[in-house]
Amino acid sequence: MITKTRSHVIGDFSIPSDKFHKWMIKSYNTLYDGTGEGSKMRGWLNWPKEYYVSEEYRTLKSTAKEIREKSDIVIVIGIGGSYLTPQMIIHSEYGDYYNELASKNGNPRIYFAGRDLSPEHLKQIIEIVSGVDWSIIYISKSGGTIEPALSFHTLWELLEKQYGKEANQRVYAVTDSSKGILKGLANDGDWRSFIIPDDIGGRYSGFTACGLLPIAVAGINTDKLLKGAIDAVNDCYYNPSSFAGKYAEWRYYNYEERTNSVEVYAVNTPFLAYFSEWLKQLFGESEGKDGKGLFPASIIIPTDLHSLGQYLQEGLRDLICETFFDRDFKKNVKIPKVSLKDNLKIREGKKFTQAAAAAMDGAYNAHSEGGNACSYVRFGSTLEDMGYLMQTMFVACAVSAYMLGVNPFDQPGVESHKVKMQSSSKWDE
Ligand code: PA5
Repeated sequence: MITKTRSHVIGDFSIPSDKFHKWMIKSYNTLYDGTGEGSKMRGWLNWPKEYYVSEEYRTLKSTAKEIREKSDIVIVIGIGGSYLTPQMIIHSEYGDYYNELASKNGNPRIYFAGRDLSPEHLKQIIEIVSGVDWSIIYISKSGGTIEPALSFHTLWELLEKQYGKEANQRVYAVTDSSKGILKGLANDGDWRSFIIPDDIGGRYSGFTACGLLPIAVAGINTDKLLKGAIDAVNDCYYNPSSFAGKYAEWRYYNYEERTNSVEVYAVNTPFLAYFSEWLKQLFGESEGKDGKGLFPASIIIPTDLHSLGQYLQEGLRDLICETFFDRDFKKNVKIPKVSLKDNLKIREGKKFTQAAAAAMDGAYNAHSEGGNACSYVRFGSTLEDMGYLMQTMFVACAVSAYMLGVNPFDQPGVESHKVKMQSSSKWDE
């Protein structure tokens, strides 16, 4: 069943029965009616439309320009929903080489900190910023998350040493509108601040300044991203036949009827490696509660076909369903005619896009034959397509969580580890 949305985002979700169709429609309407658990946190449903014409968005773009002009390097500090969107979009545009290409493209180099507690990683960042002009974008909705806070303290000390009072003009905060530790710091230092609205949780905040400020600093066109998201806002509105509705139903069918426990996102390019991480956070944190939910995992095709491919093909059965994300490539390479004597001659003149398509096709067919339920999402390589897909996934995820009977917008498990970490005896050893 091919679900057409924008001409460049297409989903194929085959569901053998309509057993859960009515339940999906009910859950879909629950989201839009605002009658489900956590309904106060649905600010993201219409956000791209509101933000696109807002004053803050205009300021965001001019601030991004200013940051670009005065910084050779920008350190983005955040964790979870407060770093995954910018990391994902920068990576989906540039793959592993944004920083290597930065000066050629007239962009500042960008590094992410605060998403881990590795002293080795932080030391590298300290070394990297020494002797250059640099700035910090510090993102935390609550403002109190320990990993980013610790990295910030360390980097702030350096920034202050280098710039004195001017350091305050080199920190940009993205946080709550009125409360939290970061908001207080931003007020004290008179730092330029942007808001994550009260009714938008971390993993749904990609189209707020949390995602858009670092993305704009990277020289990526945020208007295009938002325009795609706005198309999805319109297409999804009270429309259970949308891509989002179909995908939610497909996931629930596999979870409930086929008793699958794992969903694997299979992407066709390493440029989408962080897209998978973003999906894992969105679905894993929204659904994995009350003893329920598909565990989200990911592979890159063909890389991981030579490792996990074996398990996917022949490991435990009735465990896994797979969603194949097949993105168009912006560039191509022709397989050349060479004088080497091997049996690759028959591929001469073919293109890498054909080889990549063959790998996706081969894996899809082999894994389907192996017994996994497989769905297929094809999308274009533009920022509009990415924006569309992101907003659609927000809706699919919220509907899917309502189908499971869980609150899509809280994260009690995450909160509990945060508390346990603060009170751990390891701090005293
Ligand atoms: O989705 C969520 O709410 C979480 O993953 C948060 O984004 C993450 O824990 C970081 O929280 P904060 O932005 O408050 O530092």
